[in-house]
Amino acid sequence: MKSVAIITGTLNPYIKNSGSRIENVKTPYGSVKLCWSDDFLVLPRHGMEKNIPPHMIEHRANITALAEMGVERIVAFYSVGSLKRSLGPGEILMVDDYINLGEIPTFFNKEIRHITPSLQSAFRDEIISLIANIGIPHRGQGIYIRTRGPRLETRAEISMLSQFGDVVGMTMCGEATLAREKEIEFCPICFIDNYCNGVVDEEISFEKIRNQANRNRQIAARIIKEIFK
Ligand code: HPA
Repeated sequence: MKSVAIITGTLNPYIKNSGSRIENVKTPYGSVKLCWSDDFLVLPRHGMEKNIPPHMIEHRANITALAEMGVERIVAFYSVGSLKRSLGPGEILMVDDYINLGEIPTFFNKEIRHITPSLQSAFRDEIISLIANIGIPHRGQGIYIRTRGPRLETRAEISMLSQFGDVVGMTMCGEATLAREKEIEFCPICFIDNYCNGVVDEEISFEKIRNQANRNRQIAARIIKEIFK
């Protein structure tokens, strides 16, 4: 079995559990705290103290730390906003492509190498089957558009983005790109926590996004349990 690690967002169900052990990994891009929980490795992308905002995350340090731990596959969880009325809060979207036109992180600053990004893989198919087998509803296809944050998007930005994608988030694309550069298999799982600004006639707030994200904690834990069964 190839070694799998989990990347979680702000609502990590594992860090600071009594059974967890923290490991500090030094990388050329900074040190990263990882967490062993039972037998699996979790990387909280916003840090152990949940205080690293999305635009300040050093994705290269995170992915390097996992590579140094011998990780060959990553399952990563994301909170996203929906660009479509037909895709509502509480739904899970297994995105299969992404748009990230600016600020693309890379390990290749001193050599000329170009990877071709793709989220489609046998590994992703395996995770989708696993989620289906435990009866968790999800959609199997969609495009993730990355915005920089930390602010949410304007209505005009969302109106434009909605012509090109299904969900918006701030963190997935960097992780997907860097994992591919390190030849680590990668599967994102997106939890829709809100409609993006202006998609429906309702104000969005950080508070509401947080509340929805809280409801996902148990579902994420079920998926993780199944992966390491
Ligand atoms: N926009 C960007 N990122 C997000 C959102 C959003 O509406 N919701 C959760 N992450």
